[in-house]
Amino acid sequence: MKIAVAGSGYVGLVSGACFADFGHDVVCVDKDQSKIDRLHDGVMPIYEPGLDALVETNVKAGRLTFTTDLAEGIRGAAAIFIAVGTPSRRGDGHADLTYVHAVAREVGEALAHDCVVVTKSTVPVGTGDEVERIIADTGCAHRVSVVSNPEFLREGAAIGDFKRPDRIVIGAEDDFGRETMRQVYRPLHLNQSPILFTNRRTSELIKYAANAFLATKITFINEMADLCEKVGADVQDVSRGIGMDGRIGPKFLHAGPGYGGSCFPKDTLALLKTAEDAGAPSRIVEAVVKVNDTRKRAMGRKVLDALGGPEAARGKTAALLGLTFKPNTDDMRDSPAIAVAQALGDAGVEVKAYDPEGMELAAPLMPAVTMCKSAYDAIEGADAVVIVTEWDAFRALDLARVKDLANAPVLVDLRNVYRPDEVRAAGFEYSSIGRAGPKEAS
Ligand code: UDX
Repeated sequence: MKIAVAGSGYVGLVSGACFADFGHDVVCVDKDQSKIDRLHDGVMPIYEPGLDALVETNVKAGRLTFTTDLAEGIRGAAAIFIAVGTPSRRGDGHADLTYVHAVAREVGEALAHDCVVVTKSTVPVGTGDEVERIIADTGCAHRVSVVSNPEFLREGAAIGDFKRPDRIVIGAEDDFGRETMRQVYRPLHLNQSPILFTNRRTSELIKYAANAFLATKITFINEMADLCEKVGADVQDVSRGIGMDGRIGPKFLHAGPGYGGSCFPKDTLALLKTAEDAGAPSRIVEAVVKVNDTRKRAMGRKVLDALGGPEAARGKTAALLGLTFKPNTDDMRDSPAIAVAQALGDAGVEVKAYDPEGMELAAPLMPAVTMCKSAYDAIEGADAVVIVTEWDAFRALDLARVKDLANAPVLVDLRNVYRPDEVRAAGFEYSSIGRAGPKEAS
């Protein structure tokens, strides 16, 4: 089966490479000539574990090709996926559909056969209707079924998520669309991955509802963590205790510095807009967005406290370990590290930092921060070491060496990577999230 994917960013490239790996014949299209040139040279535009090898294998096997020519790329394709970006529109938080609409128009103008057009980009409810109308307006005479098929890929685990999904959601309005999508996902269905067929608008909403629910779950446990610190409880045990209830489930209950990334912040805002416009505002998601924003700034204050308070902190140095919004990605979008670095800088604290993959993208976002060659390089001379992102490399720091290099043995662990008793036994002043130890309970 021939598949075309318009947009070779994160979602498009991962989806295209995985479809090719299933044996489909895939063309990935992107307007950016330099991106396509680099892909031809085997250079990935994003950091995603395993993606380069997957692309290389499938290019070699002749199942995966790249082009900037959309008309050429979609020729004969049974399914054309739209996987372009839908960033937050400046000013109002609505998803910006400029790129989606542009691809729909180009597809309509170039189509010379019947096919299914699939929106994989995260798009507001009703976008499928607009895509359908745009294609019809081009005068396209062929049968086109517009289908919604949202992605649920986590950065850093995207290939596994694509190949072993909890579910595949397909929103289609006719049998042609449903049948074609069944063929697209046949290899996965054979692996027992469940496919949920819904109408198109429902499928579009499922994506936003899933991300908003996950963001709510995280924000809920983050608030519980604050409460734990006040009342002398341990949030990790609270997570375990509630997560063992099958109705709640154990995942996404890890308290931390607040969610970031390319999806949750953008999609919660877009859902709020949709809900407001539809006259069914979501008070819960509204609160989640506010609480999460406030939390990121509060993390800066937590570090200042560890440095002895805002007065004492002035002129001191903090070492941030991890800058990306989560490990195994170079993505800095809405990373809590940005708010932490900002708060510390504003308070007159000098900030050094190290991240295994994110420093290149982080540097322009935090110009006052000194980027270091290694974790220990950042720690040298620091008055507080702050774990912001839980990269594996920070899970087993040599605490004796940290103590030797640092100016003061102060560790702020915003991801609860360490055990309080062990770190305190090693002579550190330790603060973490929602685990009231001798210091935090006071
Ligand atoms: C998310 C969704 O998981 C994915 O299904 C969707 O398609 C895109 O958005 P991603 O943004 O890659 O994926 O990251 P995810 O692993 O979900 O983490 C999002 C944020 O929540 C990160 O900042 C992470 O640190 C935070 N998080 C996650 C927590 O703070 N606690 C948790 O328990 C889980």
